[in-house]
Amino acid sequence: MPELASRAHMENIVPVVNAAIKEAGCGLQEIDAIAFTQAPGLIGALLVGSQFAKSMALALGKPLIAVHHMQAHVLANLLQNPAPSFPFLCLTVSGGHTQIVLCSSPTQMKIIGQTIDDAAGEAFDKTAKLLGLPYPGGPLIDKYAKDGNAIYKFPEPRIEGLDFSFSGLKTAILYFLNNAGTSNVYKVDLTATAAERQKFIDENMANICASVQDRIVSILLNKIKKAVEQTGINKICIAGGVSANSGLRNGLTTLGKKLGWQTFIPPFEYCTDNAAMIAITAHYKFLENEFVDMSITPSANSAF
Ligand code: KG4
Ligand code: ZN
Repeated sequence: MPELASRAHMENIVPVVNAAIKEAGCGLQEIDAIAFTQAPGLIGALLVGSQFAKSMALALGKPLIAVHHMQAHVLANLLQNPAPSFPFLCLTVSGGHTQIVLCSSPTQMKIIGQTIDDAAGEAFDKTAKLLGLPYPGGPLIDKYAKDGNAIYKFPEPRIEGLDFSFSGLKTAILYFLNNAGTSNVYKVDLTATAAERQKFIDENMANICASVQDRIVSILLNKIKKAVEQTGINKICIAGGVSANSGLRNGLTTLGKKLGWQTFIPPFEYCTDNAAMIAITAHYKFLENEFVDMSITPSANSAF
């Protein structure tokens, strides 16, 4: 709900900044520069952050740094020890994006593959909705999947190159549930009643979640495998909210060991949206004198 998100930002920005300064134990004048998220996102929330950052930079006489949210997700990988050296590939999987990014330096990134429809996070969240689970459903599917087995085989989309598609999977899951309890659960005849469907979900929640997660993870890992073959780069990072998924984390580690890749998986708290990733990106922009002036405006959907 964009309106509620903007209001929450207005209410929280001053207390959050004060708490951060207090916890860091530094004075305002010790700060070298003020960074903010410029794009992409909900415009109301971005406006609160950018206006606050501009005001603070002006009042303190500090330089201003604009950060792209998706670049910051990638650079969250530099917050771990050991951090990857450049160049590396990053699979960025969040609620709004699914990208394979070729990262040549902290400020040089190229998207070499991306989703043509839903993001991986949306595939998790929309499946969760079909199963009657609350938003965001990704973490809940992950939790149920731990007690289940991937016994249902959902189709893998046939998309050329390094791009992804998740909308077909969502439709396959919808038909699968709508046929639940009938002899052929994959047939598009929608014969199950609402009660049969619910009973099927209740009795098979763990196996359904494990099967959906298994397919989403295999779609992601197969494309990463292709990207390694195409680029010859075998240092692989993951980023974004879906990189908190235990199936993806385990799957990447196992595949990496098998194929001789170096894999980097950020700690949980740096996978979902966080401020440290904005700060580390700003740090590298600061080193390269990448500052912006007061005419900068936020953007809801700019690509990098
Ligand atoms: O990066 P993020 O925190 O926010 C943005 O979209 O920018 O990502 C949120 C997404 C949601 O779709 C959520 O369901 C998903 O990340 N997510 C997960 C897990 N934790 C968060 N998906 C699968 N398994 C998880 N453990
Ligand atoms: Zn994000």
